[in-house]
Amino acid sequence: MKYSRIVGTGGYLPEKILTNQDLERLVDTSDEWIRSRTGITQRHIAADHEMASDLALHASRKAIEAAGIKVDEIDLIIVATTTPDMVFPSTACILQDKLGARNCPAFDVQAVCSGFVYALATADMFIRAGKCRNALVVGTEVYSRILDWKDRSTCVLFGDGAGAVVLSQGDQPGILSSHLHADGSYSKILSVPGSICDGKVQGTPFLIMEGNAVFKFAVRVLEEVVYEALAENNLQSSDIDWLIPHQANIRIIQSTAKKLGISMEKVVVTVDKHGNTSAASIPLALDTAVRDGRIKSGQTVLLEGVGGGFTWGAVLLRW
Ligand code: ACO
Repeated sequence: MKYSRIVGTGGYLPEKILTNQDLERLVDTSDEWIRSRTGITQRHIAADHEMASDLALHASRKAIEAAGIKVDEIDLIIVATTTPDMVFPSTACILQDKLGARNCPAFDVQAVCSGFVYALATADMFIRAGKCRNALVVGTEVYSRILDWKDRSTCVLFGDGAGAVVLSQGDQPGILSSHLHADGSYSKILSVPGSICDGKVQGTPFLIMEGNAVFKFAVRVLEEVVYEALAENNLQSSDIDWLIPHQANIRIIQSTAKKLGISMEKVVVTVDKHGNTSAASIPLALDTAVRDGRIKSGQTVLLEGVGGGFTWGAVLLRW
């Protein structure tokens, strides 16, 4: 029987930090409003020359180094992103070239803030099917490029960054189970509806959101998917050592933890410093907790995410 397990993690945040006080000078908002509604105090913003693949490159190199493998041992690259470098080629192909990796399949996954969970679940299936041994799975975003910096209801929420893991074949799990869902009938409550046609952008190229509807949807489906993952593995929420949620908003994270009866001490929180980095938020939070020593060998870790589409999912794993 083949299993997959994460053998290395990496993260990267652009140098520039945008604080709530900086935003007070841009739009009619306040540090107090942003902190009390979202828990966010600052976010990182990519430099003009930095693309999603550049952020991904930094995070990937750290993950590969932590895994102790060589770039040419990677035989699959999956990049989760909503903010690709260009329409095509995929950011995964661009990353492959920048890394100097050769002769492996590389493709993007588009599931917005659930993208990393989708990508990790896909890589796990490749490994368990015997189709690859070392997969590089990345979440990378430059949301600063799709925000309307005059819209205070959205521009305060997001940040840029990238997180990566190396998922390798092993004799023991690793990933215990993955659970993916989507409901396209909710596509309008969170979207960037613009498209390119005849050399012009048609429709709005900025993120639009019905905040309250997103909040209610997120809390409901995250609770459901966590119980689904626990039931499949005959576990209780008390068996979870670390919950690593998508970092959208501290109130969504707290509501989910409360519904599950999980103490906030077992929840990894980075939204205060990173903002919502969409597909990058879970691997960035995972990397943070691995590198600061919180996550230890043998512990049970649950990753869960929800995002535009709507999409949602969870991956349960033994570290
Ligand atoms: N600063 C100050 N006031 C603001 C701001 C701001 N940045 N943004 C909105 N307001 C105002 C509104 O205009 C409104 O004013 P009004 O009452 O005079 O009309 C007032 O604040 C309340 O607005 P609401 O939208 O009702 O505020 P709410 O308490 O619902 O908080 C928020 C908004 C934080 C977006 C909340 O709905 C939320 O957390 N939603 C979840 C959305 C989310 O996390 N999205 C991330 C992407 S989705 C994902 O990752 C899953």
